[in-house]
Amino acid sequence: MTRVEHLVLDAARVCEAAAIAAARHVGRGDEKTADQAAVDAMRRALNRIDMQGQVVIGEGERDEAPMLYIGEEVGTGKGTRIDIALDPLEGTTLCATGGANSLAVLAFAGAGGLLHAPDTYMEKIAVGADLPEGVVGLDRSPGENMQRLAEARGRRTGDLVALILNRPRHDELIREVRKTGARVRLIQDGDVAGVIATTRPETGIDIYMGIGGAPEGVLAAAALRCVGGRFEGRLAFRDHGERDRARAMGISDPDRIFSIGELASGEVVFCATGVTDGWLLRGVRDNGARIITQSLVMSSSAVRVITTDHASREGDA
Ligand code: FBP
Repeated sequence: MTRVEHLVLDAARVCEAAAIAAARHVGRGDEKTADQAAVDAMRRALNRIDMQGQVVIGEGERDEAPMLYIGEEVGTGKGTRIDIALDPLEGTTLCATGGANSLAVLAFAGAGGLLHAPDTYMEKIAVGADLPEGVVGLDRSPGENMQRLAEARGRRTGDLVALILNRPRHDELIREVRKTGARVRLIQDGDVAGVIATTRPETGIDIYMGIGGAPEGVLAAAALRCVGGRFEGRLAFRDHGERDRARAMGISDPDRIFSIGELASGEVVFCATGVTDGWLLRGVRDNGARIITQSLVMSSSAVRVITTDHASREGDA
């Protein structure tokens, strides 16, 4: 077992704690409180792990996020140097409104194993495992990508389903995909779950396309790297300030396409715990006495779905 892989159970514990804390706020219409609860719980759980952890994708820059900010050191300080990408509550609106697919998410990698991405947007394209490298790519048109994916899967484009965030910025993309005969499923939020869905045949989703958060892009790439999925990302900027921030974070060509290996490399452990029910996982079940959580924990050697029966409130202490 590698030094990152021995953190599989720790990753599950950390995400479970965040999910349990967030789940108390499902449907209360208060995104901020739900997010804060998840952040606090995740931070406490991270600080119990023997590692020299550093947050590389977190809640924001130090001046805007007091906890789990980019650069924050977490863990006991003993053990291996670990890079951490995290989103204690992915899909804050989904949680606040009781919608599907809100998750607590993190990825562990060796030092330097995760792209230090700025908190901008990222154009993403993702497909599942068992497909040749370069089968789809951001430098091709949506029509070409759908055609190439259909050929690689031995199916017709009309049989494919593309998942896209429901945003006005995607109107043209949605039209182009539908023109190929493929069906489009629109989601309101939560593109980490959306990208991972391409690797799970039971979801019926063949491809994820479109622009979402860059931090979520690195997290999703880490997940796909574990299972051999295909992913490309290109940062998308709203203004020059964002592009300059990317350069300041060490990205010399902010407009380039990043391969999956450039977003997440070496040994990676990815974990997501369901806050609300979704395609991948059941959400937290809390009857006051016992709490049940479900987590998807992936590394290059195994994909585990861990159902945990928390006999006490220890999980979110
Ligand atoms: P939050 O959990 O930060 O609310 O993000 C939800 C999300 O839907 C992500 O999954 C996605 O990457 C991003 O927001 C899309 O951003 P926007 O809502 O600005 O289009």
